[in-house]
Amino acid sequence: TASIKPLVAGNWKMNGLKTDLGIAAEIARGHDGALRTKVDLAICPPATLLYPMTAALIGSRIATGGQDCSLRDSGAFTGEVSAAMLADAGAQYAIVGHSERRTLHGERDATVKAKAQAAQAALLVPIVCVGETKDEREAGKALAVVKKQLRGSVPEGSTGATLVVAYEPVWAIGTGLTPTTADVAEMHAAIRADLGRILGKAAAASVRLLYGGSVKPSNAAELMGVSDVDGALVGGASLKAEDFLGIARACG
Ligand code: G3P
Repeated sequence: TASIKPLVAGNWKMNGLKTDLGIAAEIARGHDGALRTKVDLAICPPATLLYPMTAALIGSRIATGGQDCSLRDSGAFTGEVSAAMLADAGAQYAIVGHSERRTLHGERDATVKAKAQAAQAALLVPIVCVGETKDEREAGKALAVVKKQLRGSVPEGSTGATLVVAYEPVWAIGTGLTPTTADVAEMHAAIRADLGRILGKAAAASVRLLYGGSVKPSNAAELMGVSDVDGALVGGASLKAEDFLGIARACG
């Protein structure tokens, strides 16, 4: 969308040790004046790296984010990391409802919504992920599935300043497969329209809609040029500075 500054966010998933902080530093060096005016960048490393990565990125415009957060505030919840802890470690974003969380950890829409609300309460911007499986797409249900996920996962009252939505077709994640640009355009327009019904038209118009799933430098320009695509959520290619920067340069 023309009036929205795109966001390219890297999801490192369960990858990254202290020795990999140099990747973030290299990305920061490449995010120079010209690129900064064109695109916002964020990196979501594993929680263990949030604090040192945020420190390594001081002086840059690159934000950091968590990959998940607890829906609870604090207390006897062994292994959980709260949104306030992510914020305390320097995060500005939190991915919630990634398909790997939905599938491997059984997270349902109500949980994803509670996590998004917890993130917002800690002044983090949740990146709410939605997307259909291969079977659902083949059965012609992709739009209906995503619509239901949005209704169940997006907090009412969200605006472009407090919410990012990422459309990640499950079958495109880590597979090298991508939907056609026509399918991305159709889905993103449907997401914008659904958000309009949930949040009101004005708020929905300013929410950044990211596409995720096998985004690479070689396909980024095509995908980022689709209407209602306001950036990318990048997995594998975010682990290489040159690839991530290549995707960033393809925006706008
Ligand atoms: O969250 C981003 C991710 O699921 C996409 O992964 O490796 O296909 O870019 P990848």
